[in-house]
Amino acid sequence: MWALITGAGSGIGRALALELAGRGYDLILAGRTASRLEQVAEIIRRDLPARQVMTLPAELADPASTRELALQVCESVDHLAAFVHCAGVGEPAADFASLQLHDFQEALAVNVSAPLLLTQSLLPVLRQGGTAARIAMIGAGMDKHAQPGTGSYGISKMALRRLVQQLTVEFGLMEGGPVVSLFQPGLVDTPGIRNHVKKALKLELPHGQWLNDRLGSGQCLTAEQAASALAFTLAEVPDSEFDGAEFSATDLVDSLSFGGS
Ligand SMILES: NC(=O)c1ccc[n+]([C@@H]2O[C@H](COP(=O)([O-])OP(=O)(O)OC[C@H]3O[C@@H](n4cnc5c(N)ncnc54)[C@H](OP(=O)(O)O)[C@@H]3O)[C@@H](O)[C@H]2O)c1
Repeated sequence: MWALITGAGSGIGRALALELAGRGYDLILAGRTASRLEQVAEIIRRDLPARQVMTLPAELADPASTRELALQVCESVDHLAAFVHCAGVGEPAADFASLQLHDFQEALAVNVSAPLLLTQSLLPVLRQGGTAARIAMIGAGMDKHAQPGTGSYGISKMALRRLVQQLTVEFGLMEGGPVVSLFQPGLVDTPGIRNHVKKALKLELPHGQWLNDRLGSGQCLTAEQAASALAFTLAEVPDSEFDGAEFSATDLVDSLSFGGS
């Protein structure tokens, strides 16, 4: 039972890889930095030697690299039980006048085009198998709540939400098609969010202080808690409840008392 995780070298993707390995999944770890992926793979090989784990570095802002990743996956496995797009970027800007087109395009490329292209290119291995493959896209609360300086990130995550809706409709018409959902992590303490907060504080963006206060007082999830909730949706929720759904990590952690692993 293979799962592909993008962004598996850090934060939620990394924690998800460890969680899914513990649940018996074999893993393909994809991301930008090979050494980070290898570190995660090493932990799994050491702690769970029965699990198979592969690392496939890819630059998801580049369609050619993204296509190559999908090709390597299709050549390596017959079927993917799960595909989780955890990779995400979103450079903050001091104000609208200083928003850089490059940052906007990078956010669209990594957060929207890459999951679209990967899903499309992976269809041969997502459609095989007796049970529907599961795709989870990682959204963000910023998709509906515009904050100063967060245009690149927020607009791209809103487009990702719409992509999930589109895929749900398209796969509803596809025999043996996968099922798709949107997973909303809420605030999760990860290297990525710490890095974002540092930049937002420097730019004096109002949400920077708010996030910093919440991280400082522990009003957030750990990556392990978010990953446990995400793994629960992938492994335990019935197809009918997964298909087209939007899951909130905070609600799942509250209602099911996940402690992480
Ligand atoms: N943490 C939160 O509070 C929060 C809240 C809402 C939504 N999210 C979403 O949750 C997901 C995971 O975030 P996180 O907080 O765990 O962030 P993270 O610690 O920064 O992890 C993100 C991962 O994405 C990879 N990545 C970024 N750009 C890439 C590219 N161009 N090509 C390939 N891989 C790339 C990074 O690779 P490298 O390791 O090589 O940099 C990193 O491993 C993201 O989609 C994020 O938007 C997070």
